[in-house]
Formats: sequence, structure tokens, C-alpha cells
Amino acid sequence: MDREEVRSRGWVLKAYAPRGNLTSEHLELRETILDVGSLPENHVAVKALWISVEPYLRAKMYGRDVGLCATQCPLNQVVKWYGIGEVLRSNSPIYGNGDIVLNPFLSLSEYSVAPAEIIHKVDSDAGIPLHEYLGTLGIAGFSAWVGVNEVGQVKAGENVFISAAAGGVGIIAGQLAKIKGCRVIGSAGTDEKVKLLKEELGYDDAFNYKKEKDFDAALSKYFPDGIDVYLDNVGGKMLEAVLNHINNGARIPISGMVSQYTQVWTERDGVRNLLNLVGKEAKMQGFLIRSYLHLLPVFTAEMIGYMKQGKLKTKHKIYEGIEYLLESLNAIFSGINTGKVAIKVL
Ligand SMILES: NC(=O)c1ccc[n+]([C@@H]2O[C@H](COP(=O)([O-])OP(=O)(O)OC[C@H]3O[C@@H](n4cnc5c(N)ncnc54)[C@H](OP(=O)(O)O)[C@@H]3O)[C@@H](O)[C@H]2O)c1
Repeated sequence: MDREEVRSRGWVLKAYAPRGNLTSEHLELRETILDVGSLPENHVAVKALWISVEPYLRAKMYGRDVGLCATQCPLNQVVKWYGIGEVLRSNSPIYGNGDIVLNPFLSLSEYSVAPAEIIHKVDSDAGIPLHEYLGTLGIAGFSAWVGVNEVGQVKAGENVFISAAAGGVGIIAGQLAKIKGCRVIGSAGTDEKVKLLKEELGYDDAFNYKKEKDFDAALSKYFPDGIDVYLDNVGGKMLEAVLNHINNGARIPISGMVSQYTQVWTERDGVRNLLNLVGKEAKMQGFLIRSYLHLLPVFTAEMIGYMKQGKLKTKHKIYEGIEYLLESLNAIFSGINTGKVAIKVL
């Protein structure tokens, strides 16, 4: 194959950020020249179309594992992350130019070269918008599905509470629990998000946790019959308050604890009432979706079915242009986003 050069801008990690927000001191957009012509055998050159943005990406840049088993990105290299791309050139019998692929080790750059065996074809004729493969059909949707069904084991009639309910995972989780016949309440950080949950996304009720001085009192009001399942996305003080309201045999699937990632562990909120787990014979379980990958086909078929029947609404916060990485990632920690955050690479 002949040499063929493209200019590619990509995000290079210059320094870890042990706490707080990422800034230009940590991440820099650098341009490099990539040869997409002379590809090694069984490799493809991919033009990035969509990049997923989520807390786990930030977790790879603390310089230490915050408790999520996130391998730290090496310094002074383009960050590897996942997204959707289009095959630009192929030296693989499996992929042809123009194929749309899910690339779990895409560089956070406009173009990258990847081994063919790590990418997966996306059916671009299925009538599903490509960014849904990162959201509803991607990590956010799968986390919601695993949390609600596999770990939460929700049953019709149960009282379900979801924090960060208007985020990528939360929006899907609430709707899945409603489909199962549960009573679902969510918490979120703005009145607009609360309105969205109640009026558009089918939540039975929702509250703005930033306006509640006393989480314990709020949960007494919203859960007079106690909580059977709490899908925890935030951890900290909300988790502690929930533990005072759980019913016998309650399940607490812990998807993540976004309120706690930016502090070192000694500065985090302690949860003082874990003893309630004993009295209520309740189960609290953290999970990572990578342990449930064998269920991906079941999940995908079920979710596509719901989407086709109009049972699942989706929301996205889309940033246009790879240069918006810092803004988009920090948005998650300040709650600017509603729904799944993604970058459309122009
Ligand atoms: N276990 C897994 O395999 C897996 C996979 C993917 C994601 N996750 C986890 O799922 C959770 C949600 O992820 P996501 O990608 O869907 O993100 P997201 O919910 O779209 O964004 C995070 C949301 O959390 C809320 N938040 C931020 N800081 C907060 C704080 N200090 N206290 C309370 N709420 C805060 C914000 O909404 P408000 O307006 O409500 O504040 C923000 O929109 C995260 O904990 C993430 O780590 C787990």
C-alpha cells in the first residue's frame, strides 16, 4: 500500500489530575501526521465520527485508581477511548472502506489506526442514529439494564429510586424500571431535569437534590413505603440517606459514585449506617458491565425492541467538534448535561 498522510488532531494527556476538573494543563489537543496508506496487515484506518464522554474516561486520568479498576492513561500519548468511526482505509479482509465500526480503542483523535480484531461493525442501515450505539445501546444503556435487571432484580410493584436520574445511565434506567411495572422516583440537580423526568420520561416523581436540605426527610416524603431498589450513580450522602429507608430484602446496585471520584478517599463522605443492611437483610453490590458482556446480545435485542415500540425515549448532550473534550467531560461533573454526553467529530 502507498503512503497516504492525513492531519489528525488528538488529545494528549500531559499530566494527571488527582482531583478537581481537567484543564489545558492536563490535556492538550495536538496535531500529528498519520499514515493511513501503508497499514500493517489486518489493520484499518478509522475516521472518528462520535466519541463517548463519561465519568470512566475521567477516571483514567487521576493518576491512581479511584476504585473503578480504571487503567490509567500513559502520559504524553494520545488517550485511547471508545467511539464510532468510519473505515477510511482497510488492510483487512473483514472491513471495507465506508464500514461503520464501534472502536473500543479509538484514539481520542480525528483519525486512528486499529487492529481489525478489536473493532465491531455497526449496522448503519438499521435506522438507529449512530450515537445511540454509544448511549441507549452502548455503555450507558447497558449499565442501566444490568443495574435494573441483573443486579437490581426489579419486580413489578416495587419502589425504585435512581440518582443522577437525568444522566446517561439514569434516563434509561428509570424507563426500564417503569417498563417492569415499578414505581420510580429520581433525583437530579436542576428543576428542568426534574420536569423532564416527570413529564417526558415517565418517572412517577422526581426531586431536585440541590434544593433538599435534608435527604432523609425528602426520602421519607417520596418513599412512604420504603425503597426496594436503589440504583446508585452518585454515592456519598445520598447513599447514606437511602440506607435509612430500605425495605427488607432491598437491593442496591452501585453503578458508580460520581460525587466521590474527584476526592482522595480519605476526604470522601463516609457512609455511617451500613448496619441497616444487616437489619434489612439487604444487598449492596457494585458492578462493572464488563462482567456482563455475555448478555450483550440479549440486552441489544431487548433495547432495539423497546426503541421500535416507542417505549424508550433518549436524550443526549452533544458537543460538535473534538476540541470540546474538556468542556464535555467537565460538564458531567457539574451536571450541565441532560442524557448521554457525546462528541460529534466534524
Ligand atoms: N458500572 C459500570 O460499568 C458503569 C458504566 C458506565 C457508567 N457508570 C456510572 O454510572 C454513573 C452515571 O454515569 P453517566 O455516564 O450516565 O453520567 P451522567 O449521569 O450522564 O453524568 C453524571 C451526572 O451526575 C450528576 N452529578 C455530578 N456530580 C454530582 C455530585 N457531586 N453529586 C450528585 N450528583 C452529581 C450530574 O447530574 P445532576 O444534575 O443530577 O447533578 C451529572 O449529570 C456514574 O457513576 C458512572 O461512573 C458505571
